[in-house]
Amino acid sequence: MAPKKIIIDCDPGIDDALAITLAHGSPALEILGITTVGGNVNLAYTTGNALRLREFLGFPGVPVTAGSAGALMRTPVDAAEVHGELGLGGARLPEATLPPREGHAADFIIETLRAAPGEVTLVAIGPLTNVALALLKEPRIVDWAREFAILGGSYTRGNFSPAAEFNIAADPEAAAIVFGAGWTVTMIGLDVSRQALAVGSVVDRMREMGRLGTELLLPCVEFYGMVTADEGPAVHDACAIAYLIDPTLVAVKPAVVRVETAGRYTSGMTVTDFNLADRPPNALVGTSLDVPRFWDLVLKVYEDVAHRIG
Ligand code: BDR
Ligand code: CA
Repeated sequence: MAPKKIIIDCDPGIDDALAITLAHGSPALEILGITTVGGNVNLAYTTGNALRLREFLGFPGVPVTAGSAGALMRTPVDAAEVHGELGLGGARLPEATLPPREGHAADFIIETLRAAPGEVTLVAIGPLTNVALALLKEPRIVDWAREFAILGGSYTRGNFSPAAEFNIAADPEAAAIVFGAGWTVTMIGLDVSRQALAVGSVVDRMREMGRLGTELLLPCVEFYGMVTADEGPAVHDACAIAYLIDPTLVAVKPAVVRVETAGRYTSGMTVTDFNLADRPPNALVGTSLDVPRFWDLVLKVYEDVAHRIG
């Protein structure tokens, strides 16, 4: 089967790096472009990290295009305490030699979807500012995208606040635009990604992966959280990519999702109603992950990438 063509909008970010590695290594996906947004760390760092990853992993021909530095209407927030000052935990990849593509991420998204209607999947694993800007400029991307998926939101509890997940909380107005655009958002949120823990046995496999392990995976995962036999950090963003590779890994349910933008304590909450009554759903919401098959897929792909890098 021909690989699924994807654009990854991201804010690398430790788990973004793990997700990009998975997307690059999977024969089921073809990355047409990476677009960056300020989020986990500032835009200069997220873009710099995407450029470094592109060369380290070995796909220098794929364009990396920078987008918005911060939210549409709010003061930028970051998650440097989780991802490290530079965004990739303890990983220190070599400086990139190639520059980003000229232009804005939102325009890259529009032009790439316009060029191949119905063929390209857009996946966003950072704050939704670039996607919202693309929708405001060209609402027809809703029809042109083959599929639109995010890592973000939660129908139970948040991580940025008790109510809100980071990618939505970082730019709730953008998220409200994205969920209200008239397409179906596949929302792979914390309810799914909190099941994807890099536990001791996973990390042990990464130790056998040569430079990919020692220079990227391990310094990322070990910085990200304590690893024990049955606990470890959640590799959130990789779940959205794994879903695109094999949708049977994640159970999804149709829902109406609204984003809270006005709440004093709940800003960025993805208020999820599985009771559709007679309303059409605007989202397919992930509810559970097949954890053993997820890690089986991810680690096999990483082993292939490791083999190529040496
Ligand atoms: C999301 O927030 C970011 O910190 C991660 O990269 C991920 O996209 C998880 O809430
Ligand atoms: Ca991210």
